[in-house]
Amino acid sequence: MHKVIYDTDPGVDDAMALLFLHRHPEIDLLGITTVFGNASVETTTRNALFLKREWNIPAPVSKGASVTIDSARAERPWPAMVHGDNGLGDIDVPETIDLPLDPRPAHRFIIDTVRAHPGEVRLVAVGRMTNLALALKEDPEIATLAKDVVIMGGNFYVPGNVSPVAEANIHGDPEAADIVMTAPWKVAVIGLDVTAITTMSRSYLGEMAARGDKAVKQLDALSQSYIDFYKHAVEDGMMVHDSCACVYAVAPELFSSISGAVRVVCGGIADGQTIVRRDGRHFPPDGAWDGLPSQVVCTGIESERVLDLIRNTLLAA
Ligand code: BDR
Ligand code: CA
Repeated sequence: MHKVIYDTDPGVDDAMALLFLHRHPEIDLLGITTVFGNASVETTTRNALFLKREWNIPAPVSKGASVTIDSARAERPWPAMVHGDNGLGDIDVPETIDLPLDPRPAHRFIIDTVRAHPGEVRLVAVGRMTNLALALKEDPEIATLAKDVVIMGGNFYVPGNVSPVAEANIHGDPEAADIVMTAPWKVAVIGLDVTAITTMSRSYLGEMAARGDKAVKQLDALSQSYIDFYKHAVEDGMMVHDSCACVYAVAPELFSSISGAVRVVCGGIADGQTIVRRDGRHFPPDGAWDGLPSQVVCTGIESERVLDLIRNTLLAA
């Protein structure tokens, strides 16, 4: 069993990934930590509680960061054109959900849970990396106590999706992402190189909904406007970014990867760009790169098999 903390900003594709984690037989979902990103943290937390209630997910929800780790960074508008005003494709979601939150802030929940299960906890982070960076700042030892980190974010050999060079989760808090990538733990980076080519069509999702239970039908409903948004890039379908990271956690053999130190550009016209210094390439000594841990950067994916695993897992209920 994989003990997982899911750090998320639900978020349409986050919702599908949550159901995948909840339903995968080898995943023990220990907690859901929320972060700002696809909407404010108030909204993403309410959405996490809503999905927990609708789908009977036992894992606790802990509310996380509302702003970037560098408080001097200007706030940006929420991407309502992608995930809707309410973050869940503008389906009906009550203003408030009558379920308790974990009393701890997300980064503290992460620290306590990692410490409670040394060497076992996997952090699957599919939003801004702010909670993980705050946890590392407060308790740097968790880098050696967590089993590993799997993130959805970044882009290495393909363009960005919020700037020519940057992906949304990284661009939304570059300093936090740089802290996470350079900490002495094992990070697997699932970025646009693989997620942008893993697209689920409206009809594939519709067929899943026809066969699936209430939860899968809800996913279908909340994904409709997200699919409309993607019409510039996908033919009647959507990129299932966050589910790719969750699939990697249980089926890394469906991915190919390279390894190397990863850094994030903080500021300037390349703000939020992710760069890998591939292992085996030699450069003159450079304090910005030398001595950093080698991370795994996914560059290839068996998209059809990934989609099938998502479908089979969601329909297995
Ligand atoms: C990432 O940004 C968000 O819009 C999605 O939920 C995903 O985590 C894709 O760039
Ligand atoms: Ca997300």
